[in-house]
Parts: sequence; C-alpha cells; structure tokens
Amino acid sequence: MLPLSVRHCSLSMVICIQLIMLPFGTDANEKHLDDILSYIDEHQDEFVQNLKEWMAVPSDSSDPELRSEVTRMMNITAERIKTLGGNVEIVDMGFEKLYDGRSIPFPPAILAELEKDPAKATVCFYGHVDVQPASKEDGWKTDPYNMTEINGNLYGRGATDNKGPVLAWIHALETHKSLKQDIPVNLKFIIEGVEEIGSPGLADLIAGHLQFFSDVDYIVISDNVWLSKKPALTYGTRGNAYFFVEVESGQKDLHSGTFGGIIHEAMRDLVYILANLVDSSGHIVIPGIYDDVAPLTEEENKLYENIEFDLEEHKNSSGVDTFLYKTKEEILQHLWRQPSLTIHGIEGAFSGTGTKTVIPSKVIGKFSIRQVPNMRIPEVEKQVTKHIEDVFARLHSPNKLKVYLTIGAVPWVANIDDLQYKAAKNAVTKVFGVIPDMIRDGSTIPLAKTFHDLTQKSVMMLPIGGADDGEHSQNEKISRSNYIQGTKLFASYFHELSKLHKDLIDAKQLKN
Ligand SMILES: *[C@@H]1O[C@H](CO)[C@@H](O)[C@H](O)[C@H]1NC(C)=O
Ligand SMILES: *[C@@H]1O[C@H](CO)[C@@H](O)[C@H](O)[C@H]1NC(C)=O
Ligand SMILES: *[C@@H]1O[C@H](CO)[C@@H](O)[C@H](O)[C@H]1NC(C)=O
Ligand SMILES: [Zn+2]
Repeated sequence: MLPLSVRHCSLSMVICIQLIMLPFGTDANEKHLDDILSYIDEHQDEFVQNLKEWMAVPSDSSDPELRSEVTRMMNITAERIKTLGGNVEIVDMGFEKLYDGRSIPFPPAILAELEKDPAKATVCFYGHVDVQPASKEDGWKTDPYNMTEINGNLYGRGATDNKGPVLAWIHALETHKSLKQDIPVNLKFIIEGVEEIGSPGLADLIAGHLQFFSDVDYIVISDNVWLSKKPALTYGTRGNAYFFVEVESGQKDLHSGTFGGIIHEAMRDLVYILANLVDSSGHIVIPGIYDDVAPLTEEENKLYENIEFDLEEHKNSSGVDTFLYKTKEEILQHLWRQPSLTIHGIEGAFSGTGTKTVIPSKVIGKFSIRQVPNMRIPEVEKQVTKHIEDVFARLHSPNKLKVYLTIGAVPWVANIDDLQYKAAKNAVTKVFGVIPDMIRDGSTIPLAKTFHDLTQKSVMMLPIGGADDGEHSQNEKISRSNYIQGTKLFASYFHELSKLHKDLIDAKQLKN
C-alpha cells in the first residue's frame, strides 16, 4: 500500500523523496500493528467476558426505577477509562422531571482525555452505555442481562447498541497499553447515559464544553450498524420536518343526519389537502421542494453500484410486494439522498371499528418530510405552508386552517474525502480484506449533525455491528466476529489515521 497519495507528490519533489524513505518507518508500524491485532485475537475470550459484565448492568435509561443502574454503569465506564491513564471529568447533567411530578437525577456524562501529544491527531469518540428496555417476557430467547453466546453470536441487551462498540474501542486502546506500545493518536471520550431517551442535554453539554473540542481533529461515532454482511462507513442521515395541518369548522362535533349536506366539513377539506401533497409515484408536489436537493454527482452515483444490499430481503422484511422503484441504486438513492413525504394520521377523526356517523369539528392531519442535503427547514416550512394555503384556497371553504412545523431535524452529510474516512477505509481493508460500502441512513440520527454543527469538526459514523443485530428489538446481539474484528478495526484506524495525519501536517508545513 502506498503511504502517500499521488496528490501529495505533485506538491513538491521533497515529499516524493519522503515517500521513498517512509517505508522503513512504516514497516515498524506495520509490525506494531500486527502485534496488536494478534493480541486482540488471543485475548478475545477476555474481551467477551468484559462485555458480559457490562451487559449484566440493566442500564435502561427509560425506566426511572433503573436510573441508579445507569449511573452505576457510568461509574464503571469512568473507572475503565481512568485505568487507561485518562483524565476523567464526570459532568452532572441535572434532573429529569417525570410525568408524575417527581424529579430524578439524570445520569452524569463523561468527558475524558488521554495524554496529549501536539504532534498527533486528536480523535474524540462518542458512545453511550444506557440501553433500551428489555425483559424475558417481551419474547427474548435468553436473559437479556445475562449475555449468552449461541452459534458465534453474543445475545443480550446493549450488545451492539452500544456497549459492544464502546468496549471494543476501549479494548483497542488497552491492547496498546498491555503491549507497552505508544497509542498513535490522542484520545478524547464523550460518553452519555441517556441516548435511548433522546440525549436530552447532550447539545448543551457540547455547547458548554467547546474548549474540550477545540483541539479535536476528528469525531467518531460507532452507534449504528452495517447495511449488509459487508463493513460500511456511514456518511449521511436524512432529517425530518414534521407538520401538523389543522382544519376547524366549529366548536363541536355534529351528527351527519342533522347537519350532513349543509356545512363545509373540516374532514373533507383536510383529506383534499393531504391528497395534494404527494402523487402516486412518490413525487412530492409541493412547488420548489426539490430545488435545494443536492445534485447527484457522477462520483456519488458510482458509490451506489458496489454497495451490497439485498433488495429482495428488504422487500420481504416490509411485507410489501411492489416498491416504487426497481433497481438497488434507485431504492438506495430514494432512501438516502431524495426527500420523501409520508402522511401519518389524522387526529380528531373518528377512528377504530364501528360506524359512528359523526362530523368531526376539528381535525389535524400529520405528515412529515424526510429532508436531505441541502434542503433547509425554514425554506421547507415556507414552501409547505404556501402550498397548503394555495390548495385550501381552491376549496373556497370558510373553515379555519392552520399549518405548523412540530419537529425540524436537519439532515447530515459528511465529506467522504475527509482524511478520517480514508483512514477508516484503509483500516477496513486491512482487517476485513474488503473495501467498505459508503452508506447513509434514511432515518434521522441527530447525533452526527449535532456534533458537526456545534464543533465544526469532521464527524464519521464507523459502525461495527451487523445488519441483523436487532438493536432496540428482542434478542439483540453482536457476533463475536464483529466484536473482535471491530476491535481490530478501531486499532487499525488509529494507525491509519496517524499515518495520513502526519502526511497532511508535513505537506502543510512544506507549503508554508
Ligand atoms: C457513582 O460514583 C459516585 C462517585 O464516586 C458515587 O458517589 C455514586 O454513589 C456512584 N453511584 C453508583 C450508582 O454507583
Ligand atoms: C447466566 O446464565 C448462565 C447459563 O445459563 C447461568 O449459569 C448463570 O447462572 C446465569 N447468571 C445469572 C446472573 O443469572
Ligand atoms: C421472508 O420473511 C420470512 C419471515 O418474515 C422468512 O421466514 C423468509 O425466509 C423470508 N424469505 C426470504 C426470501 O428472505
Ligand atoms: Zn445507540
């Protein structure tokens, strides 16, 4: 493998001479890394046992009765990072007000850093050690808090989301310590205990500690899964703009025998509006809505060809026979880089079984748009409101109309030419022997966007979990192979990143 890209060579002859000299140092590095990878293989039972211990803590953040378990889990994590030689700050996150009026403490968050060498790149790892609820009665085949290995899979709550990846990262570092090897990058951690309830306070935590992030070069999140059996790097997520459209005809519901036929019914108006948002081919008919969608470059288009994606399985898992699009490329692009509009429901309408003959007085239609780069929420809000008002005007209805945005979560996309993506690609290639798929996520994961917007640093999602890990569902697992190979991936990533970062700094210094 060429340690420097050709692009650097064009900068000056001096770097090209370095290119010739570099392999000596690189050989030593490769030897170090090989030792590390072997060590991880040899100690895998120990790493699995550590995961079992972490998974035995029912750190379910959604259950107030288990809050002290989440705090205990944060303590365990903090102690672990301390043994790496880290400087650990336990940050108080205040109190959560419960529906019943009680207040309970949020678990603290952890900000930590290992020793700092200004010559090295600084990577900040985000993870969470709280979990989704789980109980045997929900249909688990094994005790969700007693990790059980079956056919090479490690079953239990938190296996893949997110205790496995957090421990894998820590093990990758511990391995360096055990072998008395220098960690080639500076490390920071931000670990929270309330991700599964929507990370309340995380944005404030980041915003309140910008100094902590000031010397960070790269942020890594490993809290999602691959798309298939092939390793992947995630570089984008869609946003979500959720709208309520309210039509009101009067103060109270009426009987259709007494009033049907003589009034402008709110429900009819609303159904007409909802029917004029998206056509039967999936095309959103709101004028201007596609204007800001990033054009598909040839380079991006090419990415889709090689992505491993089982369309038939995806179809099967939906229980739907016919999709709007036929090819893998079309499907993935419409999930990841095209907006979609979904009508979710109508509040205030008669629902349920039976034949109630009501005329509802006030109905609220609910729909959302999964938006993509470079759509902007204020613009989307304007376009949607204007369109609905125009459609409503056609009805000459005396009813009252209100349109409002209730959630505005923005999409995220990273620059895949960022150095850390190259480093991760090299690391995957080294550990797994394949080039990773560059994937996005069709749903909204605010984390990456939050980190990017607040810190302005390069953010990468580097998953190690498999597509069938079942995060959030019964029988969550991570395979032993993904867990251990994932540990190696993280270790290799440190080395690849360190190499590329050094090249970048050298090139910058030469330029100045
Ligand atoms: C967590 O650690 C703090 C500080 O050491 C301690 O006061 C607290 O009791 C611990 N909480 C749990 C649940 O272990
Ligand atoms: C976990 O499961 C194993 C195997 O079934 C059992 O021997 C052990 O007692 C269990 N541990 C706990 C804490 O329930
Ligand atoms: C489709 O899904 C069902 C269960 O939902 C499963 O039993 C079946 O094997 C799947 N078929 C294919 C072709 O994946
Ligand atoms: Zn998670």
